[in-house]
Amino acid sequence: MLVEDRIAFVTGGAGRLGGAIAEVLLREGAHVVLADRNGPAAKARAEELAGTNGRRVVAVAGDVSDKAAVARMVEESVAALGLADIVVNAHGIFPNCPVLDYEPDAWDEIFAVNVRGSMLTIQAHARRWIDGGIKGAAVNISSGAARSARAGGAAYTGSKAAVNMMTEVMAIEFGPHGIRVNAVAPGLIVDDVVTSESPDLHPYVNMMLQGTPLRRTGKGEDIAEAVAFLASDRSAWTTGAILEITGGSHCGRTHMPLTQNLR
Ligand SMILES: NC(=O)c1ccc[n+]([C@@H]2O[C@H](COP(=O)([O-])OP(=O)(O)OC[C@H]3O[C@@H](n4cnc5c(N)ncnc54)[C@H](O)[C@@H]3O)[C@@H](O)[C@H]2O)c1
Repeated sequence: MLVEDRIAFVTGGAGRLGGAIAEVLLREGAHVVLADRNGPAAKARAEELAGTNGRRVVAVAGDVSDKAAVARMVEESVAALGLADIVVNAHGIFPNCPVLDYEPDAWDEIFAVNVRGSMLTIQAHARRWIDGGIKGAAVNISSGAARSARAGGAAYTGSKAAVNMMTEVMAIEFGPHGIRVNAVAPGLIVDDVVTSESPDLHPYVNMMLQGTPLRRTGKGEDIAEAVAFLASDRSAWTTGAILEITGGSHCGRTHMPLTQNLR
């Protein structure tokens, strides 16, 4: 098992990716805290996962963009399972809004949740890791959007670009303490895996699939396997990495024809 008897604090644990990440970490031997602002959904997911691989799973509720709420959730998780030595930031919000329509509060919320929230959870744990000499590992769920502009994505793509850079800065600051900070940048993941042959595709999904060499959308497990690797000692010399898990959609001009005979 990749992370046997480790303890993982997974934000967004009630969500599509956070729930899948929790499941794989449990299967790989960790005990897991699901932290989510949707408390009932986190509790329900914890109940579904209870008993997986004989590991313990608990839910804590709060808003990760609020420093006091993060401190409380960390205290509750320590009381329930002990101090986590893995943090996975899998929470997030992803509104799509043209620049001309943005209100400042809506803009600020995206950065507060996606960037500040990820900083606060790692900050809260890293302080304890440094004080206790614990070589923890953090994994931020970024997005392929961090390196790929699209209409309506100014705040979201910007927030994920900030997550990428924050990951690298944290890798530099915490590396001397043996603490690793990496990110996974997923491509498109909807509730059910779809291909271009699937019926009733949203135009956005259809165009994304045309630019995806592996010709399907992702599943939570695709991301969770990468997170488990980055949280484990198998990646002991990996820090500051941004691992793109996108079915290849990040590879540039993925659906352009050959240039033969171009004049
Ligand atoms: N699904 C995709 O295609 C995709 C692609 C790239 C990146 N991502 C990123 O992966 C992460 C998870 O996405 P998802 O598809 O699982 O979304 P999701 O909406 O299913 O889950 C997100 C979870 O985060 C929680 N959350 C939101 N704001 C919070 C806050 N302030 N405090 C605590 N919890 C909060 C929500 O309650 C929810 O349970 C996000 O950061 C998203 O940007 C998703």
